[in-house]
Amino acid sequence: MTHSNSRDAELRARAEAVIPGGMYGHQSTGLLPDDYPQFFARGQGAHIWDVDGRRYLDLMCAYGPNLFGYADPGIDAAYVRQLALGDTLTGPTALIVELAEAFVALVGHADWAMFCKNGTDATTMALTTARAHTRRRVVIRAKGAYHGAAPWCVPRPAGTIDSDRSHQIFCDYNDVASLETAVAQAGDDLACIFAAPFKHDAFIDQAEPGPAYARRARELCDATGALLVVDDVRAGLRLARDCSWSKIGVQPDLSTWGKCIANGHGLSALLGNDKARKAAAAIYVTGSFWYQAAPMAAALETLRLVRDTDYLEQITALGERLRAGLAERAAVAGFSLRQTGPAVMPLFLFDDDPDLRRGFCFASEMLERGVYTHPWHNMFLCAAMTPADIETALDAAEGAFAALKRQAPTLSPVPKLAFLTPTAR
Ligand SMILES: Cc1ncc(COP(=O)(O)O)c(C=O)c1O
Repeated sequence: MTHSNSRDAELRARAEAVIPGGMYGHQSTGLLPDDYPQFFARGQGAHIWDVDGRRYLDLMCAYGPNLFGYADPGIDAAYVRQLALGDTLTGPTALIVELAEAFVALVGHADWAMFCKNGTDATTMALTTARAHTRRRVVIRAKGAYHGAAPWCVPRPAGTIDSDRSHQIFCDYNDVASLETAVAQAGDDLACIFAAPFKHDAFIDQAEPGPAYARRARELCDATGALLVVDDVRAGLRLARDCSWSKIGVQPDLSTWGKCIANGHGLSALLGNDKARKAAAAIYVTGSFWYQAAPMAAALETLRLVRDTDYLEQITALGERLRAGLAERAAVAGFSLRQTGPAVMPLFLFDDDPDLRRGFCFASEMLERGVYTHPWHNMFLCAAMTPADIETALDAAEGAFAALKRQAPTLSPVPKLAFLTPTAR
């Protein structure tokens, strides 16, 4: 509930004056139900607290970065120790070598690693590397797939020019024929095929990757000399202790990582095989903060937990429990709720809800009951969640479905979302 005298409302009013649009990006004003808090005070484990002191079980996990829990003591201790020694220095520390070695040891296709700050840095570097390797221009990618917010891939075109988006051909995810058509259209100018590890577009049902699609992408790259890129920025380390497509036996040439690799500290990575090494060495990429040592210390500890704990099995089991429990409760309440994607990265959409009014109402009712969900974006589980947290979410859902049932006949359309509906570019 937005209270006009709340700290959140006060900060929103002040932000309106000094931050264009009040807020930008994925937390832009109007993308979430009105009662959602905009500002948070802290996070601990699986929970976040808003600036008005309300605590939520956080099923968004910061849109992915929180894998082992907010403020994980071991990871943050490694970060703080390194901060005291030096973070942004004139050059990198030994940690960059140790971290590259750790990624190369963990990720099957990787022979080398380069580090940057955001997922967009990594995906843009992947594109540049592929173009340097092939000396060709065209990238094939799936309609509606998000690869970041640089001019070549940003979903909202304001401020971009046509040439930012030239030499791109779009296909339908999981559609072999459409991929083949795109490759034929690219002719002898194909630099790379970009693939999301699974279809995790906003607003629509998610889909597992079809092994035939993934294998065909690999074959087409091999046949044309183009590079295959798996964009694991969002899903990396939540589906496998390797690149996500290792689960279906397809190895890319390049993979992009970010979000949770340092459990919330600013770090992303481009990993590649030997085929792409020379091109990766030839491109000029850097940033003032790209050698920062403290996030690398956090990443080394994160990867240690990835290797040495059963976090993956644990979050998978929790995700499956959440999925089954929600399905039961939705059915009892008489709702047809589509839960798609891997159980550790679930998306909930209601049938017969084209303008998301039910989804928004359900999310608001979950929030009211202390669970932060998302009405149109995939969510994330983290290893700090417990079976008791899942029961809390399911109890909240029972109440939220009942409240939705009462309100359904009188719900009004959700405003302002039309501009975000994915466009086929
Ligand atoms: C699949 C994918 N690629 C790239 C990005 C861009 O990452 P970042 O927001 O860190 O620039 C994202 C971010 O959500 C993503 O989900």
